Amino acid sequence: MGWDKRSWREKPRVQMPDYGDIKELASVENSLEALPPLVFAGEVRSLREHLSSVGNGKALLLQGGDCAESFSEFSANLIRDTFKVMLQMAVVLTFGSKKPVIKVGRMAGQFAKPRSADFEVINDQKLPSYRGDIINDIAADLKSREPDPKRMLQAYTQSAASVNLLRAFSQGGFADIRQVHAWTLESTRTGSTYKQFSELAEKISEALDFMEAAGVSPNNTQSLRRVDFFTSHEALLLEYEEALCRIDSLTGNPVAGSGHMLWIGDRTRDPDGAHVDFCSGVENPIGLKCGPSLTEDDLLKLVQKLNPDNEMGRLTLITRYGHDKVSDYLPKLIKSVKSEGFNVVWCCDPMHGNTIKSSTGFKTRPFDHVLSEVQNSFAVHRSEGTYPGGVHFEMTGKDVTECTGGAQSIGDEDLSSRYHTACDPRLNASQSLELAFLVAEQLKK
Ligand code: PEP
Ligand code: CO
Repeated sequence: MGWDKRSWREKPRVQMPDYGDIKELASVENSLEALPPLVFAGEVRSLREHLSSVGNGKALLLQGGDCAESFSEFSANLIRDTFKVMLQMAVVLTFGSKKPVIKVGRMAGQFAKPRSADFEVINDQKLPSYRGDIINDIAADLKSREPDPKRMLQAYTQSAASVNLLRAFSQGGFADIRQVHAWTLESTRTGSTYKQFSELAEKISEALDFMEAAGVSPNNTQSLRRVDFFTSHEALLLEYEEALCRIDSLTGNPVAGSGHMLWIGDRTRDPDGAHVDFCSGVENPIGLKCGPSLTEDDLLKLVQKLNPDNEMGRLTLITRYGHDKVSDYLPKLIKSVKSEGFNVVWCCDPMHGNTIKSSTGFKTRPFDHVLSEVQNSFAVHRSEGTYPGGVHFEMTGKDVTECTGGAQSIGDEDLSSRYHTACDPRLNASQSLELAFLVAEQLKK
């Protein structure tokens, strides 16, 4: 009631830039409004249906990609490689759970970042924090850190190119299950999971041979030849989100055209704030990050606002407590949700509660802590009788050294070797695949 795509403007906002040049901002907004949406209402509805089957225990959600996409780290090969790793992870998880895996990238729009502090000190200079390439430039000087509305147009263009490529990869034969061997990346060939994955791929090929003999093949069965791949990002920069909001011609409802799924971050989930207001009015599936500071009172308000019809698939609670806190906090959250009878999808983000500073000064995440948050969170779900529907990772197909540990035993002293992230540390291709195997073990339980 009373919602329109501009109504967030009347609500308190945090984590958004104050643009100096209002005229320029308006002109960028007008340009974006005239451009085609990046995703379409039918796809958004289809993801909601898939997520509803996740919520009902019939499928799994795999959400993953960069913490922050960047303008400089943009190439077809990188998108392809992250896509390949996600396909591999999905195969591993399907094998472990015997359930279809719904694949959602933190891709084609994940450009805006909330920050814990408004300023940071670099080389003794106090600078406004970097807020993601859609807002300002990471270079450490005052001019670069000024928010520039024109960056929204570049983010749109890059997202359009990314989503176009992802559609081609997922629909054009690359994702054909017969290609399972070809998804292995060079950088993972020396890793411990290489043998494990090859064996799995071999089993799949044998099963495919058998099915083909029985008359079922990628030639006559679409689901063996293509995959559905969806995009998602944090709905943080609301001028951009508003400008890409469109009306679904079939239902007459507003849809965010910037990505299939949007989520609300841990720092912007004020029930009466701007971000919750915007997300409450669009048809897209919505994720809500739940961290230690979420109160029971806020949770109830948030779920009522974001999912008033209590539809399964509309709302995903993405929990991110930290490996040592999840066993304390998650049971309370689950109990409140159960006692209210809320239909939600449960997803574990084992990244954002496990960020530490390494002895060599880098922001990092120990692989063991990431794994242990997944294990602890699944254990809580088992004892509460709820279904752990999904996992949410910051990961890349690139062979980076950003998170410590894993079979490659990346140490604090190795982090400087290939530390490329624009924001938080990501699992590299080997670590991602290794984690998928370990999560699959959990799912078998
Ligand atoms: C993120 O997902 O990159 C993020 C900032 O998460 P959170 O809001 O949970 O801290
Ligand atoms: Co992050």
